[in-house]
Amino acid sequence: MTAEPMLSRYSKDFDQPVRGDTITADRYISREWMEREMKYLWPKVWHLGGLVAELEEEGDFIRHNFAKESVIMVRQADGSIKAFYNSCPHRGNRLVLGDVGSTPRITCGYHGWQFDPDGTLVHVQDPDDFPNGNPCGKVKLSELRCDTWGPFVFWCMDDDVAPLHEWLAPFPQRLAGYRLENWVRVLNVSADCDFNWKIIRDNFNESYHLPTIHPELSTFINDGLPTTLFEMYPSGHNSMWMVGHQATTRKDYVSGDVPPGLYEAAEAWGIDPKAYRGRTADIRQAVIEAKRKFGPERGYDYTNMSDQQLVDYFHCTLFPNLTITMSPEQCQILRTEPHPTDPEKCVFQHWCLYPPVKGMKEVETPVGKAPLKHDAIHRHSTYGDGVSLGFVADQDLSIGTTQQQGLNSRGFKGCILSNQEKRVQRFHELLNDMLCGKEG
Ligand code: FES
Ligand SMILES: [Fe+2]
Repeated sequence: MTAEPMLSRYSKDFDQPVRGDTITADRYISREWMEREMKYLWPKVWHLGGLVAELEEEGDFIRHNFAKESVIMVRQADGSIKAFYNSCPHRGNRLVLGDVGSTPRITCGYHGWQFDPDGTLVHVQDPDDFPNGNPCGKVKLSELRCDTWGPFVFWCMDDDVAPLHEWLAPFPQRLAGYRLENWVRVLNVSADCDFNWKIIRDNFNESYHLPTIHPELSTFINDGLPTTLFEMYPSGHNSMWMVGHQATTRKDYVSGDVPPGLYEAAEAWGIDPKAYRGRTADIRQAVIEAKRKFGPERGYDYTNMSDQQLVDYFHCTLFPNLTITMSPEQCQILRTEPHPTDPEKCVFQHWCLYPPVKGMKEVETPVGKAPLKHDAIHRHSTYGDGVSLGFVADQDLSIGTTQQQGLNSRGFKGCILSNQEKRVQRFHELLNDMLCGKEG
């Protein structure tokens, strides 16, 4: 008897053709590529800048440093949020030097110019000494687009990019049932890394690495083919539905005892794993039923979530550099951003948000337990210094440096991709479309 071939599966409604452009190493190592990205890619997308929860009162601000750029988002008197380039219109000094703060007037540290939260210049030293008269009331901070979705604040440098909610499609609608707007960011960690930002983007655009890099996940996430469903949208965003509360079909975990990982996941919902010996795949349905039954008394609001959302993992990869990984009890934000000057470095960021659950004081984050409150764990480090960015994230990052090294070899001729890595191929073809033929 011949075994069924294991083939990747793409949604019929959301698939995109690829051309097969060769993915060569220059895009990961060359300064010219990096400069073209700065000019032709990064202004053309929305960037996640921070959280609405950080901006409660007028004058509250957050800063987002991105490569050589820096943007501040400021709460306004009317409740809206504006974003400004973090650069003084006088002679260009950076205005805000901290990540977060609150001030009635944004004040430049060089000559003391002061700006209202709406960006209007309201105070200068020696106002009569300007050839065109007092600049107050006339000069403004340079503003850029700013909008919110759920708990998140986004900014965008280009006026021609689609409005945020259109740009995010289909995710606002797909994720509506999770009611993310109420969730709390408990983990906010980042690290400087020795590899190009696209190395980890590629990693998040495929699940081919799961059996080798994340072997522990195989007992409670089914990464088998064709079970995993890939979706690719015309916008360039894509997603992957991974069946959860079920072991991988790459091995036979069904006919024996319930494997560790799945065992604990079943027990957590009052299900006796021993009753599922020889039929471990049925635990997923039992968890759906248990969550529907016991969720409300445990403080969870699963009302608007589909059965699939209750137990599976929904990985949303937004072009070009933002991943949102959803389960009903955790939202992970995983992102890499370019280094200001070095194409062989990047900044990796990992946030975790959790739903407010009545009576719950702490949650299990990827780096251990933490109080269920805003930014309970917040830190920046250098990857390799031994500080964890989350168990699974550490595993992904562990290949970054060695892949960067290997890509620098004269012997590397371009990627050879499987069908299940088509999202990697498409990502690079979209980049090619935006950057190629353009000068650095
Ligand atoms: S550069 Fe800001 S006040 Fe002079
Ligand atoms: Fe991974």
